[in-house]
Amino acid sequence: MSARQLEEHYALGIYPRRGITLVRGSGALVWDDAGTEYLDCATGVGVANLGHAHPAVAAAITGQAAQLITCPGIFYHHSRGRLMEKLVQLAPAGLERVFLCNSGTEAVEAAIKFACLTTGRTGLVSAMRGFHGRTLGALSVTHKYRDAFEPLLPDCRFVPLNNSEKLDAAVDQSTAAVILEPIQGEGGVRPADPDFLSCARRLCSERGALLIIDEVQTGFCRTGSFFACDQLSLAPDLMCLAKGIAGGVPMGAVLASSQVQATLGSHGSTFGGNPLACAAALAAIETMETEQLAERAATLGAYFEQRFCAALPARVREVRRVGLMIGIELKEKATPCLKALAEQEHILALPAGSTVIRLLPPLLISEEQLDHLVAALQRVLAT
Ligand SMILES: Cc1ncc(COP(=O)(O)O)c(C=O)c1O
Repeated sequence: MSARQLEEHYALGIYPRRGITLVRGSGALVWDDAGTEYLDCATGVGVANLGHAHPAVAAAITGQAAQLITCPGIFYHHSRGRLMEKLVQLAPAGLERVFLCNSGTEAVEAAIKFACLTTGRTGLVSAMRGFHGRTLGALSVTHKYRDAFEPLLPDCRFVPLNNSEKLDAAVDQSTAAVILEPIQGEGGVRPADPDFLSCARRLCSERGALLIIDEVQTGFCRTGSFFACDQLSLAPDLMCLAKGIAGGVPMGAVLASSQVQATLGSHGSTFGGNPLACAAALAAIETMETEQLAERAATLGAYFEQRFCAALPARVREVRRVGLMIGIELKEKATPCLKALAEQEHILALPAGSTVIRLLPPLLISEEQLDHLVAALQRVLAT
């Protein structure tokens, strides 16, 4: 049976499938089992910031796999220590300690637990249209997908993004944490206003709550700086990371300020911080620094916007972009355009809500590839 037949037979039907079997990738390109080449602007949902099969990441994984793959947190390992040091050096000031896990939702789970432990409270406040993951804690602070799973964590409140008045009303003495994305990804590539984020920071400080910033999708140079927080001069108490952190190897991380408490035995993870993922992350982050990918994302993102907006198709309502995190909001459903992009133009892209085309290309994409993307979008949106 083909890969497609096997998965259709055995996999639980939770993913909307695209009908493409991917077999290999290199840089910004991937190939399917028929040898068709695609420009990958989905990047494993914003994971492959360095593109595919990056030699530095591949070498780090190969070398580490031959030495030691697993080493739980009860033992020390040099690549884990070095990665923690690197993350703290890169993080906004005040974030001093690290918990390593395996995914974005795990990072959010951990951050919620640390916030509850530190404050002795259980209330959580987050934004409508936000997305923080699919496990039960992360789902509790995710407005969209929770209905079928209620009751979830008690006392979760949701406010409209960028409504500081509603935020002020929602944060009180029962609030353990406010959790926000600096730019909502799944919710449609919607940036939070700097004023709204500083209001969240102020309210948390005044009312004894912690501010959790979820940089799972925005982190690791995607938005034109190492973290989106850097452009906002925002100092969270906890920051959640994953996706691009380890060049495609599953990993998540929580960075915490010195006031955050995580007592002995209060949390843990068998695979969290395993040497394989740490070696991949060190290689990925070093490449981001040497290749100056943050600056590249800022420059190339502006290049894309200038080209695309020079002849904006009438079917586009709005373009929202920070670095190479791009949302094209249509006046119609995005799915037919995504299908046409894949089938006619061999470009892989993502939805974000029903009407937004989300583009998360590798940060090493070339100007020529972006020109090709712009021309393809214009063809697909012109018809
Ligand atoms: C902002 C944000 N937080 C959390 C998550 C959950 O990450 P994961 O799918 O690795 O569990 C995502 C995934 O898209 C995300 O975009």
